[in-house]
Amino acid sequence: MNAKNVPVQRLTEGSRPGLARHFLSLDREDVRLRFGVVIPAAAIAEYVERIDFDTDAVFGVYDEELALVAVAHVAFTGDMAELGVSVLPAHRGRGLGSALLARAAEHVRNRFVTRLFMHCLAENAAMMHIARKLGMKICVDTGEADAFLKLAPADPASVTGEFVEQRLALFDYALKSQAMRIKELNAPARPLEG
Ligand SMILES: CC(C)(COP(=O)(O)OP(=O)(O)OC[C@H]1O[C@@H](n2cnc3c(N)ncnc32)[C@H](O)[C@@H]1OP(=O)(O)O)[C@@H](O)C(=O)NCCC(=O)NCCS
Repeated sequence: MNAKNVPVQRLTEGSRPGLARHFLSLDREDVRLRFGVVIPAAAIAEYVERIDFDTDAVFGVYDEELALVAVAHVAFTGDMAELGVSVLPAHRGRGLGSALLARAAEHVRNRFVTRLFMHCLAENAAMMHIARKLGMKICVDTGEADAFLKLAPADPASVTGEFVEQRLALFDYALKSQAMRIKELNAPARPLEG
């Protein structure tokens, strides 16, 4: 899939349970790559609980069953935004990670924040590759890597672009919900218990 065709949706408060399911389904190694260290399930649940959807921005990609298969969290501090990304293994290599990075960068730009930052392990070749593709400058030090992107100021095209992408992602979500409902209606009825 081309990164441009990925329906990336900005998530809201109601997505917390789906986000928890997404992060809790990552295996130990992916948790280490995403958070920099292995953290237990309780700490992941607490992280999801503490996400501030008003200050920060969280983006996601849903599959046909409306499960969040790819997530990016952008946290804002002053004139900088920090990004963390994860894509479930079965959905990798299809441009979802790149699409999330591009959408996050556009959002940060539209919030008049000029720098996007990402911290990851230097061994994370896929992430480094995507970061380079987006034009990020990477500094590697003792096994860890910091990637920076200087963003151009927002312009009418970037603001309109983000608005349109969100509408398309919401439309995609509505279509998937309808398809699921039709599938449920067509499913054979379960026999009554008792
Ligand atoms: C890193 C991650 C987000 C990538 O997601 P993804 O959806 O597979 O990303 P994309 O499909 O957009 O792009 C993957 C790119 O990496 C490349 N790639 C994959 N493995 C690679 C490797 N070992 N070395 C170099 N490049 C690699 C792919 O060829 C692809 O490049 P292309 O777009 O030029 O063809 C995903 O692997 C992941 O969630 N990993 C665990 C969590 C993590 O590492 N998070 C990042 C820290 S914040």
